[in-house]
Amino acid sequence: MGDIPVVFQKNPAWEEKGSSRIPFWAYTDESIYKKELERFFYHGHWCYVGLEAEIPNHGDFKRTVVGERSVIMTRAQDDSIHVVENVCAHRGMQFCRERHGNKKELVCPYHQWNYTLKGDLQGVPFRRGVKQDGKVNGGMPKEFKTEEHSLNKLKVATRGGVVFASFDHDVQSLEDYLGPDILAYFDRLFSGRKLHILGYNRQRIPGNWKLMQENIKDPYHPGLLHTWFVTYGLWRADNKSELKMDSEFRHAAMVSTRGSAGAKAEVTAGVTSFKESMSINDKRLLDIVAEPWWGGPTAVMLTIFPSVIFQQQVNSVSTRHIQPNGKGSFDFVWTHFGFEDDTPEMTERRLIQANLFGPAGFVSADDGEVIELSQCGFEQKPFHRTLAELGGYECGNTDHMVTETLIRGMYNYWRKVMEI
Ligand SMILES: [Fe+2]
Repeated sequence: MGDIPVVFQKNPAWEEKGSSRIPFWAYTDESIYKKELERFFYHGHWCYVGLEAEIPNHGDFKRTVVGERSVIMTRAQDDSIHVVENVCAHRGMQFCRERHGNKKELVCPYHQWNYTLKGDLQGVPFRRGVKQDGKVNGGMPKEFKTEEHSLNKLKVATRGGVVFASFDHDVQSLEDYLGPDILAYFDRLFSGRKLHILGYNRQRIPGNWKLMQENIKDPYHPGLLHTWFVTYGLWRADNKSELKMDSEFRHAAMVSTRGSAGAKAEVTAGVTSFKESMSINDKRLLDIVAEPWWGGPTAVMLTIFPSVIFQQQVNSVSTRHIQPNGKGSFDFVWTHFGFEDDTPEMTERRLIQANLFGPAGFVSADDGEVIELSQCGFEQKPFHRTLAELGGYECGNTDHMVTETLIRGMYNYWRKVMEI
């Protein structure tokens, strides 16, 4: 009878072997998903909201989300950055509809309650009533205080031009949250040089949000799934590499240095995605120029749990924001950027190399599809489990890529917070 359970229990206990066997119900169960939103996105964690360079001027704002909750990132007149929840304090309307813009104040169109860019309520129409025939009709009660009805303000942390927010004002500092090893890789990319926004990609992927984190904590697949990587040697199992996690195993850095072993290395033997005869017409796609700030690695992929991935793949740099919208779906928003001191040639190079990524990227299109099909597999037999046992059952840093240790690490943390 194989894997057909005699009695299917909802959320049976986790099958032991460390955290290496992840039940399919972790991706398909509605109540698990709701609990994840509460415990990872709304409490105790920092979530990515954007880059300071997206709101360079006073009054600039960007609408985005933390988990499923709509928020607005603003730059106030005193240059400070704020994140407020996009829900009017009056009748609860999600009042901001534009993705980006510039405003002097935030106004809910329903009854025109208006707020400062910091989220403080400053105006309530007809607050003192309306004069008619010598008397005053209506108005808010005398004891109504605007100070008690500001927008919900999130705690904000910025570092190196990146903005994080948390609904939880007791959350630890961003630096402690990332931990020293991950922070070092964060600072490598966001060293304080001014960022320059190059553009966005947006896609909706029909899969559980965790699969995106796992995809970038999985150095096993790139040299196997991605024809682009294996054929042109950008990411292969014989690349010099390191995998590092924070002490909680929730964040990770996949660090890789492009090999010099040549196209026909041993590691490509029998790999069906390796296409010896394939060549690129537009050679600009592989016009890679080493930058001083790389300090060795040609690629560092940072997964910051739960909400974001920071990508440096040769000259292409981007943030990838995970925006869950249900147990089996998330929006994935890519912000491609460069640095203000880039030459026009480097900007062009970053834009050309960005073709590897995004929804139709030569590499990333593959990932969107495998995530979708993984979710299909989970939905059809939620009582089963995946196997992440490459490299054993333990979690720990390694100096090679032939391991699923980062995925085990993430589930080690996930089980702790979810109490599963
Ligand atoms: Fe991939």
